[in-house]
Amino acid sequence: MESMGNLKRTHSCNQLGKDNIGQEVTLMGWVLRRRDHGGVIFIDLRDRNGITQVVFNPELNGEVHAKAHGLRSEWVLAVRGKVNHRPDGMINPKLQTGEIEILVDELRILNVSKTPPFPLDEETEVSENLRLKYRYLDLRRPVMAENLVMRHHACQAIRSYLNEINFLEIETPFLTRSTPEGARDYLVPSRVNAGKFYALPQSPQLFKQLLMIAGMDRYYQIVKCFRDEDLRADRQPEFTQVDMELSFVDEEDIYLIAEGLMTTLLKTTRNLEIKTPFPRMTYQEAMDRFGNDKPDTRFGLELTSLTEVIKDCSFKVFKSVVEKGGLVKSINAKGCATFSRKDLDDLTTYVADFGAKGLAWVKMKADGEWQSPIAKFFTDQERAEMTRVLGAEEGDLLFFVADQPAIVHNALAELRLELARRLELIDKNTFDFLWVTEFPLLEYDHEAKRHTAVHHPFTAPFEEDLALLDSDPGKVRSRAYDLVLNGTEIGGGSIRIHQKNIQDKAFKALGISDEEATDKFDFLLTALELGAPPHAGIAFGLDRLMMILAGRESIRDVIAFPKTQKAGCPLTDAPSSVARKQLTELYLRPDWKES
Ligand code: AMO
Ligand code: AMP
Repeated sequence: MESMGNLKRTHSCNQLGKDNIGQEVTLMGWVLRRRDHGGVIFIDLRDRNGITQVVFNPELNGEVHAKAHGLRSEWVLAVRGKVNHRPDGMINPKLQTGEIEILVDELRILNVSKTPPFPLDEETEVSENLRLKYRYLDLRRPVMAENLVMRHHACQAIRSYLNEINFLEIETPFLTRSTPEGARDYLVPSRVNAGKFYALPQSPQLFKQLLMIAGMDRYYQIVKCFRDEDLRADRQPEFTQVDMELSFVDEEDIYLIAEGLMTTLLKTTRNLEIKTPFPRMTYQEAMDRFGNDKPDTRFGLELTSLTEVIKDCSFKVFKSVVEKGGLVKSINAKGCATFSRKDLDDLTTYVADFGAKGLAWVKMKADGEWQSPIAKFFTDQERAEMTRVLGAEEGDLLFFVADQPAIVHNALAELRLELARRLELIDKNTFDFLWVTEFPLLEYDHEAKRHTAVHHPFTAPFEEDLALLDSDPGKVRSRAYDLVLNGTEIGGGSIRIHQKNIQDKAFKALGISDEEATDKFDFLLTALELGAPPHAGIAFGLDRLMMILAGRESIRDVIAFPKTQKAGCPLTDAPSSVARKQLTELYLRPDWKES
């Protein structure tokens, strides 16, 4: 191995082109590939920016050529040489540096590498666990490096956009009290306060409200949040929010600023212009038409209610569901009557995973005739009415689910997405934003037998619904909004309660007693009585946004060091056991055993 000595890097591996021909340059990087072509050795030298072909020709420099024989993948090199126009036929138009190569005059081997545990090319499928264990190798791959570069540019753009419109970037504590976002907390025991714990913040929610009460007017932070919840492709135990809060604003101000932010981000990362204002839809409409509160609006396949039409039908399954307060809803899959028996069975199994007890179907034949196992249960008139409501025509395939509303909606929302995937209805280059508004303030938690906040307990109710808080709390709408992009919730926020008497009422509706409110949120309640301005805010999930902008399927691909489904880190092996002494210092019992 050698040192860099007096060699100074002059260019990156993605920088040189025709204009540099004849110049003497020094590059440093990793060996991506080595090819030996009849005595001449070619190396693709790679750094974060790209690839440059470097050439070792025995006729130009025999000594350096001999040394190049030993080079292997991922060795670290410094090369000095002349920029040369590639011979005709050797030009690679796919590569930024594809017109040139470096004829090497001096080679220094700065470090060797063992054979990497997986090839660092784009083609080989490698298990994610292995990629995470050797994440530093995984990140050398250009696709992965590009994601981090894109994320960096996105953060720069976010900061400059918000700075421009008078936001202050202010940090808030990580060692704090439990915050009320509804997930489980990560707890940190305090050594100097026996038996007491900090909670890592699920979001800076309360601190950002306090910053408004402090008169900071416009706050933002690109900040880690911690939630101990079941993980999925778009959920991590620690994730990043672009968090903001503003004083003296209403919904329209938030929408305007958020839409400006998204416009900036799309421009920076994809060079795309997007249309504003974004469409808006109430929660109720989203549920009715799409079955969930984060609809992917890039394609149709909307849900239609048949509950009215079939309420008196003789099909027992449907009728009894309606009698018990359930729904019957349907999707018309246009032109899909060609689906096979197996397709239908597969889809039935698919919706069963989301709670559906069955999936009735109808293939539309000529003259409005139904081919279906359930055709016989309906009168001609009922069939004609359903056909009409669904706009069904020859060649269409109709799907029905009957159940309690939550199941019908969940199953059909998932069926809708699955059909769109199968039918390839989704244009990957479309970015469809949607505001979802007027969420219910409260939802009933059947396990806890009480109402809980849909958003969080500091969300303002619609003033005209306030009277319902006592009589029919489930009907109260909140001034909360979510921003949805291509069917993923990428942000959410609300107008906050800034008056103590309303906050007290909200806690009461949530079944939070005065003692509990005082114990958990006394500092906020006190602050609300010391000149709290009207305020509102929103937080965007940066990882989810970057996943979509980078066209990836998992947020792990846009996070340098993410965790696995089991919240572990294969690289560092966290979480890990700790010494007995550390536990006793923290007043934790060291004799814990898995039960
Ligand atoms: P909320 O809980 O909706 O709101 O979170 C805001 C956004 O953060 C993203 N997000 C996540 N991303 C990755 N992994 C997770 N586990 C995860 N959980 C949430 C989502 C979500 O839309 N304090 C409020 C905001 C406010 O009211 O201003 C809050 O945290 O994209
Ligand atoms: P069965 O009479 O139970 O054999 O059901 C007849 C058809 O209705 C089958 O295609 C079932 O998949 C379907 N089915 C059964 N229960 C439901 C339900 N809750 N919602 C929609 N379809 C159902």
